[in-house]
Amino acid sequence: MKKRLLLVCLLVLAFSVVGVSRAQDLSGQLEIFSWWAGDEGPALEALIALYNEQNPNVEVINATVTGGSGVNARAVLKTRMLGGTPPDTFQVHAGEELTGTWVVADRMENLADLYAAQGWNDAFPADLINLLTVDGGIYSVPVNIHRSNVLWYNPAKIEEWGVSVPATWDEFLAACPTFQEAGVTPLVIGEAWTVNHLWESVALGVLGADGWAGIWTGATSPNGPEMTAVWDRFGEVLACSNIGEDSAGLSWQQAIDQVVAGTAAFNIMGDWAAGYMTTTLQLEPGTGFGYAAAPDTAGNFLWLSDSFGLPVGAPNRDNAIAWLELLGSVEGQNAFNPLKGSIPARVDAVAAAPELYNAYLQSAASDWSSNRLVGSLVHGTAANERFMGDFNQVMEIYLASRSSSAAANAMAAVCVTSGACGGM
Ligand code: GAL
Repeated sequence: MKKRLLLVCLLVLAFSVVGVSRAQDLSGQLEIFSWWAGDEGPALEALIALYNEQNPNVEVINATVTGGSGVNARAVLKTRMLGGTPPDTFQVHAGEELTGTWVVADRMENLADLYAAQGWNDAFPADLINLLTVDGGIYSVPVNIHRSNVLWYNPAKIEEWGVSVPATWDEFLAACPTFQEAGVTPLVIGEAWTVNHLWESVALGVLGADGWAGIWTGATSPNGPEMTAVWDRFGEVLACSNIGEDSAGLSWQQAIDQVVAGTAAFNIMGDWAAGYMTTTLQLEPGTGFGYAAAPDTAGNFLWLSDSFGLPVGAPNRDNAIAWLELLGSVEGQNAFNPLKGSIPARVDAVAAAPELYNAYLQSAASDWSSNRLVGSLVHGTAANERFMGDFNQVMEIYLASRSSSAAANAMAAVCVTSGACGGM
């Protein structure tokens, strides 16, 4: 018995020595490229701190390009990737943004061996791994799951105004004049991409999960009557917003600030807003801020996942692999997600440390395991970059013309040029 104990102790010692010496072997730099700057930074910084602890001889370069949803970072990344100067690793959404953009262009290394070595094939949901997979190769490591279709509000203000949180757009539109008469913006929107973000929740509400998923398989016509109904409803919702007033100058955080201050009643944003309100503004979920599924979308979880990959030609490949190993570990996911407002992509991480996850995150985790899951357009899950980029023009056409049929026809054209809408 004593001998066995000794053997176990020796083995533990041997493994930890290997672990330590391997970490100490790594040196040089690691450039991590993302759009998590400023208020979006704390979760990434927590991960980097862990990496520094494990790899004290590696100098981490935290290369961020500001701009919500990566609007600016993706353009810079494209220039670097095409110019042959990739970072060591970069943030990329799981799904089409990864596979339909970088994998298809042979710019990413296959991580299937790393997945096998780390036991990740069972640690991440199979459906998520599928979205990272092309012809048996797996091309990035997911760090989180975010939810796009969330309605945020200030519970104290809602009580003061004597209104209820709308479960449907009809309820919201009925309450809209009350807010407007009181000088409160019913629904606050920010800069251009946040308008698209609102649109995807409205579209999911009108089309339902099957109809939304059908856009990407060709089952839902982009210019059929269901889609014109989406644009009609979107127009009604916009009429109860600040569009054309201060919207274009607001970041997503500034839009949330208006809800917190009570100058706006509601905002629809992904749950990085929960991260911002808890980590930066130090508000408590449930009391400091309230949340509900976007109108008409209860039971549906419009999801996206931030992941990191290994570009071909990464200058510091071993350091990048150590970063990916950390991202995919329970420890890494539990350092990152409680600060970020997201839930871990790993199926076992919340159970390993439930005390780290606040009431909002617990509710997101429970919805993630019980709701119907549908992929986000704006955050890379559902459509390739070509479609995502060109959708901006569809939106511009709609905002300039306010014509549902013009927007629907423009979207049909984008479906054809991008090849993103299944059978089209
Ligand atoms: C999303 C990203 C989130 C958050 C958000 C706002 O695309 O997945 O992690 O950063 O943009 O910038």
